Parts: sequence; C-alpha cells; structure tokens
Amino acid sequence: MQPKKAKESLTIYTDMVLPSETNPIGNMFGGELLARMDRAASIAARRHSRRIVVTASVNHVAFNKMIPLGSVVTVEAKVSRAFKSSMEVYMDVFIEDRESGEKSLSNEAIYTFVAVDEMGHPVRVPELIPETELEKERFAAALRRKQLSLVLAGKMKPKDAIELKSIFQ
Ligand SMILES: CC(C)(COP(=O)(O)OP(=O)(O)OC[C@H]1O[C@@H](n2cnc3c(N)ncnc32)[C@H](O)[C@@H]1OP(=O)(O)O)[C@@H](O)C(=O)NCCC(=O)NCCS
Repeated sequence: MQPKKAKESLTIYTDMVLPSETNPIGNMFGGELLARMDRAASIAARRHSRRIVVTASVNHVAFNKMIPLGSVVTVEAKVSRAFKSSMEVYMDVFIEDRESGEKSLSNEAIYTFVAVDEMGHPVRVPELIPETELEKERFAAALRRKQLSLVLAGKMKPKDAIELKSIFQ
C-alpha cells in the first residue's frame, strides 16, 4: 500500500453557531462541537484510508474558550499517524473575529478512527508521512497517546505500554 502524506487528509469544516446549538448563556454546546469534530475527523480518516471508518475513541478534547452564538467555527482535521488499522486524527478549532476576520485557536482534540470492511472488521491502512515540523511532532507523540488510550480502555496492560512509560522516567 502506497504511504500517504498527512496533508492529503486535511479536512476543513466551517459552519456558524445557531441558537439551537447553544446553552442557556448563549455559548455553543460542547456536544455540538464534538459532533462537528467527529464529522471532520472521520472525513480526514476516510481520505487517508479510502475505507469505511468508525470512531474508536476520543482521546483528548480541550474546551479552552467559550464559543458565542453566531460565531463562525472552523474545524481543521488531519491524520497525525496511521498504525495498522487505526488512525489518529488531530484537530484544531478556530473561531473567526466578526470584524477583522482574524482566526483564533479555541479548541484542540484528538480522535482515533479504525478502518473496517463491510462486516466491521479492521483492515490495513496506508502509512502516513509527516512533512512539517508540527506534523512530525504530532506523529512522534501519537504512539504514546495510542498506548494511553488502550490502557484506559483496558485493552493493554500498563506494563506493556513501553513508549508511555518512557515519558515518566
Ligand atoms: C473500533 C473497533 C472496530 C475496534 O475493534 P477491535 O475488535 O477492538 O479490534 P482490534 O483489537 O483489532 O483493534 C483494531 C485497532 O483499533 C485500535 N483500538 C481499539 N480500541 C482502541 C482505543 N480505545 N483507543 C485507541 N485505539 C484503539 C487497536 O489498537 C487496533 O489498532 P491497530 O490495528 O492500528 O494496531 C470496534 O471496537 C468497534 O467497532 N467499535 C464501535 C465503533 C463505533 O461504532 N463507533 C461509533 C460510536 S457511536
């Protein structure tokens, strides 16, 4: 299988925040943002694998800033590392200033997707080639995030999480 560059999976999803998507103090619901991120990330994983993909885990989400009603929100999703059948997708979420149009980073998230066949069985995906400094940084850290996610899900014994242990030494 031909390896693919990280940028080939880039997915940019822009939409505004409507009244039905806010909480009682007029800011975007966390669940609405999670759903938008899931859509953008699944398209990125599909672009990398060209297979059916399912969300295996939400590894990290940081809601750093409130997103007010009417905001224009952009989710940028890109595969940060591909393993055998799983792919880590890293997302940056930006809000756009209404007057200046300037974009500021409001949230970050990391999801894991697994490519599956029609029966839902995991299938191999192409390797990922990181090119920029940021892509290389995210690629390098992805293995320990995978191990942490597997340990938390009870699918890996902590003693086997070698890469994860190395950051505590
Ligand atoms: C995701 C799913 C396909 C994994 O199936 P599985 O039987 O655990 O398969 P495996 O153990 O072979 O794991 C497949 C891959 O997923 C990875 N994986 C499984 N659970 C994971 C987790 N919690 N975090 C990170 N990676 C995980 C494994 O490490 C493996 O990766 P690799 O092939 O790249 O090494 C299966 O659990 C599933 O279908 N879940 C439901 C998905 C879904 O419906 N999502 C939407 C929720 S509404």
